[in-house]
Amino acid sequence: MTKDQELRNLAYAEIQQHQKLVEADPYRLLYHLMPPVGLLNDPNGVIQWQGIYHVFYQWMPFDTDHGAKFWGHYTSTDLVNWKHEEIGLTPSEWFEKNGCYSGSAIDHEGELRLYYTGNVKDEQGERQSYQCLATSYDGSVFHKKGVVLELPDGYTAHFRDPKVWKEGSDWYMVVGAQSTDEKGMVALFHSKDGLEWSHLGAIAGSGIGSLGEFGYMWECPDLFTLNEQDLLIVSPQGLEADGLHYQNVYQAGYFIGKLDCQKAAFEHGNFTELDRGFDFYAPQTTSDDKGRRLLIGWMSVPDQNEQEHPTIKHKWIHNLTLPRELTLVNGKLFQAPAEELKELRKNQAVDAEVALSNEKIVWPGLNGKTMELELTDIDLANAQLVEIGVRDHARIIYEPAKKLFTLARKSYVDGNWEKRQCKLSSLLSLTVYLDHSSIEIFINGGEEVFSARIFPDPENETIFILADGTLKGNLKKWDL
Ligand code: FRU
Repeated sequence: MTKDQELRNLAYAEIQQHQKLVEADPYRLLYHLMPPVGLLNDPNGVIQWQGIYHVFYQWMPFDTDHGAKFWGHYTSTDLVNWKHEEIGLTPSEWFEKNGCYSGSAIDHEGELRLYYTGNVKDEQGERQSYQCLATSYDGSVFHKKGVVLELPDGYTAHFRDPKVWKEGSDWYMVVGAQSTDEKGMVALFHSKDGLEWSHLGAIAGSGIGSLGEFGYMWECPDLFTLNEQDLLIVSPQGLEADGLHYQNVYQAGYFIGKLDCQKAAFEHGNFTELDRGFDFYAPQTTSDDKGRRLLIGWMSVPDQNEQEHPTIKHKWIHNLTLPRELTLVNGKLFQAPAEELKELRKNQAVDAEVALSNEKIVWPGLNGKTMELELTDIDLANAQLVEIGVRDHARIIYEPAKKLFTLARKSYVDGNWEKRQCKLSSLLSLTVYLDHSSIEIFINGGEEVFSARIFPDPENETIFILADGTLKGNLKKWDL
């Protein structure tokens, strides 16, 4: 039996062995992508290929911790209904024996290509990293073509997560990197055939251009054009908390700029965090036949109390975010939930004009564990503070005078309330998705987003609304 087949058999056996336990978890999610067992992290190879959306994911089947990653695989025709596919990649070869790490997908003349990082650790614990290629004609069975890119000079072996794109007959690849003096970087490569790659240089990074110290490692870069602007998304590690910013252990955000491939330079503005919640990292984007730029992220952060997650006793951990559509509005990236998500709506349980004055109420029909909640036409002319309380584990708060938006949650580590906040000049609308143990909040059509895991008492379905002063608006709720 091949090593690949052996690993597949073991992973499928692991799914079978624990399926009942995993499915019995009240924190299992209804409409988010999760692992069948074990640990999920980054979305990988996100692409719409021959009309079908593919989302692969970093997967450790044998443990609820990180390790030698597989690529799990989901497909969908509508971004709503997902099918769990056969395993995409197993870490079966010498150049990936400690993990088929993150990477991207691209179509090449009807062939689906996966570019990913082969992670290798030798007996001394020394890391090596190889950028590898696997190809498929049916989008299901992948043939490994081996290493296409070895580590260039100037970087440590923290060199991973290739994102590949084509411009005419030119291929480009960005890779997340660490320079030998331990600064986070993005390295750019060029190829004529997607097989032989040459290093053009580090296009952005800590200490490059006008950017000061900005972390010791940049993971999961993604580069694309939106409204004639070039956007670089990256997940830097090593940023210090700074006021309301960089509160998580690691960050994920973007720079808007201009890429000059000839000069291997990316002139850019400031770094902006993509998500202001507790749990968001390593997002990846793709474009689709509707002309959209879609983003999907990992709803967790590495090294951030992962082992305290209560789902571990049910043999699984982590999920992906909902797919979001990106648009640029006055120099800011907006992220709106993909419009297809409306198909999740089962019945409209609430449709009401609300006018609350100095009161806290439990609105009839607003209770539940999986829902989409929408508050529009918000009028806070006479409000000091408004709040939506979710199942005694999340509090969504806006204070107009302070122009301050807060998501507080009850910590799954010690039960204390903890918060993430951002400045927000006005609150016009809110869309909130709840799914058993997750909350995603889209503010003002995606101007700001907060994603978080919450672990309320499974019996608790209470949602309240509170107004200090007067809150007016239109409230809708759909059961999902
Ligand atoms: C980001 C990351 C990537 C790496 C993968 C390994 O979360 O660390 O840089 O490829 O996860 O699972």
